[in-house]
Amino acid sequence: MHHDHILILDFGSQVTQLIARRVREQGVYCEIWPFNDAAEDRIKNYNPKAIILSGGPCSVTDEDSPRAPECIFEMSVPILGICYGQQTMVTQLGGKVEGGHHREFGRAEINVTKNCSLFGTTWTEGSTPTVWMSHGDRVTNIPEGFEIVATSKGAPCAIIANEDKKFYGIQFHPEVMHTQNGSDIIRNFVIDIAGCAGDWTMGTYREEAIEKIRAQVGDEKVICGLSGGVDSSVAAVLIHEAIGDQLTCIYVDTGMMRKGESDQVVNLFRDHYNIPLIHEDASDLFLGKLTGVDDPEQKRKIIGNTFIDVFDDCASRIGGAQWLAQGTLYPDVIESVSFTGGPSVTIKSHHNVGGLPEKMNLKILEPLRELFKDEVRLLGKELGLHDDFVSRHPFPGPGLAVRCPGEITREKLDILREADAVYLDAIREEGLYNEIWQAFAVLLPVRTVGVMGDGRTYDYACALRAVTSTDGMTADFYPFEMDFLSRVATRIINEVRGINRVTYDITSKPPGTIEWE
Ligand code: XMP
Repeated sequence: MHHDHILILDFGSQVTQLIARRVREQGVYCEIWPFNDAAEDRIKNYNPKAIILSGGPCSVTDEDSPRAPECIFEMSVPILGICYGQQTMVTQLGGKVEGGHHREFGRAEINVTKNCSLFGTTWTEGSTPTVWMSHGDRVTNIPEGFEIVATSKGAPCAIIANEDKKFYGIQFHPEVMHTQNGSDIIRNFVIDIAGCAGDWTMGTYREEAIEKIRAQVGDEKVICGLSGGVDSSVAAVLIHEAIGDQLTCIYVDTGMMRKGESDQVVNLFRDHYNIPLIHEDASDLFLGKLTGVDDPEQKRKIIGNTFIDVFDDCASRIGGAQWLAQGTLYPDVIESVSFTGGPSVTIKSHHNVGGLPEKMNLKILEPLRELFKDEVRLLGKELGLHDDFVSRHPFPGPGLAVRCPGEITREKLDILREADAVYLDAIREEGLYNEIWQAFAVLLPVRTVGVMGDGRTYDYACALRAVTSTDGMTADFYPFEMDFLSRVATRIINEVRGINRVTYDITSKPPGTIEWE
């Protein structure tokens, strides 16, 4: 590890990943480990510059509730405990935490009662910043060596500090955007207190990743499935920079792609980057297998399995590949802390091509597995990919199949492609594309009566969807101006043959999902 790095011990908070994002925004590499998978020698070998203890759903007052590994308090590294992290630190060091009589959820005001190196110049004695709280328990007695530096109505020990040992405890969540100056507090901790250099950038990541890929792969051959999405594209360009034509990309055209998408992929990779590319048009095969199938999970399974067969076939034509490159990201890799133990309900099976590596008996190359999505976008720019390309909205593996509820036909897909293109064109023209997480059209499996000119029409209805989100786990519908929606609806009905009615989906997630299937 060439860079200073921070260890985040996860106690199961919904927002632990945000801590990591805030730390990395300061140019400091960090990893998230489950609290119960952090043995003493593993932590010591990792040699972090500082440790952050996350929040979590448990109460330290419960028997058998999680604790931080004792060794961290003896390692002479700065520690920041956030919410549950504060409470376990306090308990383990001899202070006291009480079960909740003063629950605080959402925005709250704190009073800064003392200057503290955690605040730097961000907050000074007497300031009253707004923060985001989410706790039922609270610290009532602080351990020896600590002092209270901020209070709130519901938390008399909103922030505590032991400046000698560089241990800090915060009851609220500095990692969420609603906490005023939350990022500055994290910066003060990782840069000023922990002394991290802040030199981890996508420029240095690129150099190091290239070295690592060369060392891993040697002179062996690699294949990489391109989906047209940002992750596999950035992975492919990075690997090509490392090992040149030892890499071959495979682009399987399932027939479920958006308008013009396949041409764009081929032009970009084959013509612009000169990366060896197999473009396999398998749309007839996919559509044939989907004939008569209207169940969403069935559709996903058929597409996933067919993809594996086609990909396997292409790979055997190349011959001799020992590696399969994948655009796996850090959120897919972080082990989550589970307290319930029970299986969670499957809402949708997103593992599009799970089983591909096993079937092909290949070694896996995952050069992005340490990165979050926004970091992959920065790396993409660093590698020369165009802004428009790296900021593309996510697109699901099964493609338009899940935006065409019910049975899929070529005719329906063609209509959907046109409507989707008109909608996205209007969003781009209006300058709204980058404000939206995902926007797309859905072709509904109903025909409705309309009137155009003097004639009756009996055509499909389409729904427009646009959501804001930070990770796809929750989402809000995008509040377009009525005037904009009305113009888009008119354009779609005028320009797209086969659609005579347009609706706008105002469901958030939950209870809806982003896609319709
Ligand atoms: P939902 O619809 O579950 O979508 O709210 C959350 C995010 O996941 C994408 N999505 C998929 N991605 N294969 C994928 O690779 C799938 O089967 C799939 N289904 C949904 C969706 O586009 C959104 O970004």
